[in-house]
Amino acid sequence: MQNEARSLGYNLSMVSGFRSYQTQQAIYNRNVLLDGEELANTYSAKPGESEHQSGLAFDVGAIDDNFGETPQGKWLHENCHKYGFILRYLKGKEDITGYKYEPWHIRYVGVDVATKIYQQGITLEEYLEVN
Ligand code: DAL
Ligand code: ZN
Repeated sequence: MQNEARSLGYNLSMVSGFRSYQTQQAIYNRNVLLDGEELANTYSAKPGESEHQSGLAFDVGAIDDNFGETPQGKWLHENCHKYGFILRYLKGKEDITGYKYEPWHIRYVGVDVATKIYQQGITLEEYLEVN
């Protein structure tokens, strides 16, 4: 996916990949110190709860709320399913995912499931019908 993006002039470098429990704990604790627990919980998973600890989730491109409006952010959203990834935290689906919009956070679910989720415009929660 990165190679195809690069061939189009887009940079989808990995900003964050696998995180250990300890790393997630440090990130979460720092975010709580910066923003308080209530706000931190809208964008930062508690240690033990982050998809990054599974090794299946990656932050790519830029950790920037406007990334989804950039050409590479749009390309990522429209094409990552071909590589088995979904954008995990969609705009307008915050109440379902539990987290604010993250146009840079992708999660591997395999090509078949990723394609269905993308084409239906739904979240993993909705796909799994846990909500
Ligand atoms: N930013 C996502 C929710 C995480 O901390 O895993
Ligand atoms: Zn992430």
